Amino acid sequence: MNFSNRILGMDFSPIRKLTPYAKEAQNNGIKVYHLNIGQPDVKTPDTFFQGVTNYNEKIVKYSDSQGIDVLIESFIQSLSDSNIYFDKNELMITHGGSEAIQFAIMATCDPGDEVLCPEPFYSNYSSFAKISGARIVPVQTKIENDFHLPDKSEIEEKITDRTKCILISNPCNPTGTVYSYDELKMLGDIAMKHDLFIISDEVYRQFIFDNIPYNSCMHLTNILDRVILIDSISKHYSACGARIGLVASKNKDLMHQILKLCQSRLCVSTIEQFAASNLINTMNSYITEVKMEYKKRRDVMYNKLSNIPGIICSKPKGAFYMLAKLPIDDSDKFAKWLLTDFSYNKETLMFAPGSGFYATPGLGKNEARFSYCTNIEDIENSMIILEKALESYNK
Ligand SMILES: Cc1ncc(COP(=O)(O)O)c(C=O)c1O
Repeated sequence: MNFSNRILGMDFSPIRKLTPYAKEAQNNGIKVYHLNIGQPDVKTPDTFFQGVTNYNEKIVKYSDSQGIDVLIESFIQSLSDSNIYFDKNELMITHGGSEAIQFAIMATCDPGDEVLCPEPFYSNYSSFAKISGARIVPVQTKIENDFHLPDKSEIEEKITDRTKCILISNPCNPTGTVYSYDELKMLGDIAMKHDLFIISDEVYRQFIFDNIPYNSCMHLTNILDRVILIDSISKHYSACGARIGLVASKNKDLMHQILKLCQSRLCVSTIEQFAASNLINTMNSYITEVKMEYKKRRDVMYNKLSNIPGIICSKPKGAFYMLAKLPIDDSDKFAKWLLTDFSYNKETLMFAPGSGFYATPGLGKNEARFSYCTNIEDIENSMIILEKALESYNK
C-alpha cells in the first residue's frame, strides 16, 4: 500500500523529533533541560480556569463554526488596545494560530503556488504550506544583520507568477527579530505592487523588549484588504494546550471563503472557547509581569551564550527564542549526541537544530534554536552544560 506524496513530502518537526532520545536519557536517570520547545513554564491566569465554570450547559454542544460571540468580542476588544480594529464578521476562532495559518494559506494558494517567507522561519510553516500543496520560497536573512529583512530588490527577485502571499512571524520565531515599521511598509508596497496577501503571524506580539515599538501589518492602513492577521492565546497567556487562536482580515470576501474551512471542521472546542473568553478579565499586570520575566531570561541566556567560546548570537528583541551559531559542523548530530552520549553531573540539554528552520538546503547546519521560556536557574544550568558539552565534543 502506498502513502500520498503529500504526506511523504512532509518532515517531522525539528522541535520534537529528538523527543524519543530525550525520553531514553530520562529513563536512564539523566535530567534533560528542554530548551527545544516554546512551552512556557509560566502559570496560566486563573481567569482561564474560572472561565471553564462559565459554561453551565447540560450538553457540550457544537458552537458556531466562526466561534462563540463572547470570545470573538473579547479578541476584538483586546486587539483594539493595540490599535487594531475588527468587526465581528472579520474574525474567526481557530484551533490555535496553527490552524489559522493553515486556513490562510489554503484560502490564498492553489497547489504549486508559492509563499514568500523570510528565512529562518518557524518550522511548521513548511508543513502548513505542504498541506495545501504550496511551497515556501525563502528570502534569506542573516545573523550579521540581526535577521532583519534584506533590500526590496532582493525580496522582489523571488517573486514569480506563482507567488500568492508573504508569510512573516513578527516578533519572529526562531530569531526574536522585531520588524520595524519601515520593513513592514516595504512588504506592504511589495504586496500591493505584485498583488499578494500578507499573512502576519503575531502570536508573540505581547513580548517585545527594550522599548521597541510594536508595529503590526494591521497598522498599514493602505493595504488592509491584503493583510491576514494570525493571533493566539497560546503564548500570551501561557495556554498552549487550550488550542485557541484566530484568523482575521478586513477583507470580508476572504473571510467569507475561510468560513468554508471553519465549517468543514465544524467548530473549535466549545468549553475551551468559554474559558478563553474570560481571559479578557485578566489583570493587565499579568502580561507586564510575564514580559519582564522573559526579558530577564533573555538577558541571562544572551549573556551566558555569547560568552561561550565560538558561539555567535544576535540579541533577540522579542518572542522567547534565540538562534545561535555553534562551533560545530552539524547541530543535528550534536543535538542527538547531547541526549545519547553526554551528560554533566547527570544532566543534559535539548535544543532545536537550526537546519529545520531553513528551506535552503545546507543553511542552519551549525545553528541551534534555544527557547528561554523556562526559569532562570534552568537556563543557567543549561548554559554550563552546553559549554562543557562543546569542549568535550570538539576534543
Ligand atoms: C511563530 C509561531 N506561529 C504559530 C505558532 C502556533 O501556535 P498555536 O497553534 O499554539 O497558537 C507557534 C508555536 O510555537 C509559533 O512559534
